[in-house]
Amino acid sequence: MMTRTARRNPAAARTIITIDGPAGTGKSSVGRTLAVRLGLDFLDTGAMYRAAALLALENNNSLDDADGIAQLVREADIRFNWHEDPPTLLAGDRALTSRLRDADVAKAVSPVAGLAAVRRELVARQRRIGEAHPRLVSEGRDQGSVVFPDACVKFYLDASASVRACRRAEQIGEFDPAAIACIQTELVERDRRDETRAVGPLRCPTDAVRVDTDQYDQQQVVEHLVEVAFDRVPVLRDVLHPVAAGA
Ligand code: DC
Repeated sequence: MMTRTARRNPAAARTIITIDGPAGTGKSSVGRTLAVRLGLDFLDTGAMYRAAALLALENNNSLDDADGIAQLVREADIRFNWHEDPPTLLAGDRALTSRLRDADVAKAVSPVAGLAAVRRELVARQRRIGEAHPRLVSEGRDQGSVVFPDACVKFYLDASASVRACRRAEQIGEFDPAAIACIQTELVERDRRDETRAVGPLRCPTDAVRVDTDQYDQQQVVEHLVEVAFDRVPVLRDVLHPVAAGA
């Protein structure tokens, strides 16, 4: 099953583009827009870790119960509904998307994402999605380093902690400097946990294009990524701009 955007670009066979980086760099919005621009599907792997955290909360599992939560993930059959644009997340037939950004889930997800057994389960699922959707922009923390090491283009988006905190604050309508400082402290702590965990730590793959987004707005970042993708995978440009390519 392909979404509408991926069907637009059938010539670019097995085109996996990964986007990794810390929270607050705009990866999700940039990744979604990039996927639409290039006619590829979009995989939000953070949503899968959020779903694992939600299942743990609903079932009263301790957040360090690696095997128990991995089993919940396995039994729940976490998957995307690719008929929706953007795809929504399901556990079996139950829609989870509306709960994934709630405060309790946001708080629980980081410890759950650090559990090796849970990561194993979700990494395997992400690779299966990559098989079924071989024209994909996949966004997360370990997509270029662990899940799709053979991706044809890898991006790593970064930004300073202060800029990321301000962006987050703006998203939630928070303008109090003390609250923004608090958001920044939490972001730095989350980065530290993501970078130092034993499995799937956040790191920039050696073959990734690193993009510092401090000075750029989302649209400028997308334009840059599109140009790099066209450069690395020329068929993407040919399919989307047949006239300019002289076809
Ligand atoms: O991108 P996000 O905020 O939706 O991610 C939610 C959490 O899941 C965050 O703590 C990082 C973690 N995560 C991860 O460890 N590996 C991924 N591939 C994606 C997200």
